[in-house]
Amino acid sequence: MAAPIIELKDLAKTFSVHGRTLTVFENLSCRIEAGSFVSIVGPSGCGKSTLLKLMCGLDSPSAGTVLFQNRPVGGPARGMICVFQHYTRSILPWRDVMGNVAFGLNAAKKSLPPRQARDKCLQYIRLVGLEGYERYHPYQLSGGMQQRVCIARALICEPAVLLMDEPFSAVDAMTRAVLQELILKIRTTVPVTILFVTHDVDEAVFLSSRVIALGPAPASIRDDVAIDLPQPRDQIATREDGRFIATRQRLFASIFLQEKREQARAAPPQA
Ligand SMILES: Nc1ncnc2c1ncn2[C@@H]1O[C@H](COP(=O)(O)OP(=O)(O)OP(=O)(O)O)[C@@H](O)[C@H]1O
Ligand SMILES: [Mg+2]
Repeated sequence: MAAPIIELKDLAKTFSVHGRTLTVFENLSCRIEAGSFVSIVGPSGCGKSTLLKLMCGLDSPSAGTVLFQNRPVGGPARGMICVFQHYTRSILPWRDVMGNVAFGLNAAKKSLPPRQARDKCLQYIRLVGLEGYERYHPYQLSGGMQQRVCIARALICEPAVLLMDEPFSAVDAMTRAVLQELILKIRTTVPVTILFVTHDVDEAVFLSSRVIALGPAPASIRDDVAIDLPQPRDQIATREDGRFIATRQRLFASIFLQEKREQARAAPPQA
């Protein structure tokens, strides 16, 4: 593997709530290669969002280390940006599309002359397919369009790593397919490493160059698969490809089979 951009070393996370200790995961180690598109899949509550927060320094591990570009992450890390599921909570409702994207540019402390700043915002608005909507406010946009704004606002910061936490879970199935294609298209022109959290095994296989599967909490890495599917990916051809079907079956089995066997063993014998 090429030099990792992110490395997790024996990572553990516990939470104490109302006197009870919850171990989300322990001894989690893995390396993320620069330029890869890595999805993390696993059942609800297994710790996917927690893992993303530890990676970008929004939370700290109970044990172990996160290295970003070979340096330990000790707080919100420059060079990594998150896009979350609930775009309505992160978009700025009082700013139009231009203003939201410009916010990203300012947050990244990229001080450009006004003309250049405007051109740069327009470039990213175009990248996410929102040309012509610059003066629209969030309430005038569909959910998918609002999430596009959030993606443009993240990418204008030119992060080395884009972390996406179920970014397409709050939109309808059609919009989801369109946004999946958008992110794949963006990746052909923007050199960013993507860490993508999803419940949806099919979405993970469709988008990624690698999928890491976590089991139920306390989570461990149950599977780690390189996705051997041709680019560009296609909603029909890729999903019909025998390798796509075999990989999704393998991942489902890795995540759920052990629990199904345990449930079957625990079930009382039929009379
Ligand atoms: N700040 C916190 N304090 C206490 N417990 C927490 C905190 N954050 C997460 N947890 C617990 O950690 C576990 C993992 O939560 P997390 O949100 O990472 O799961 P997830 O895999 O992202 O789930 P989902 O797919 O539903 O989004 C859950 O049991 C949750 O209750
Ligand atoms: Mg989550």
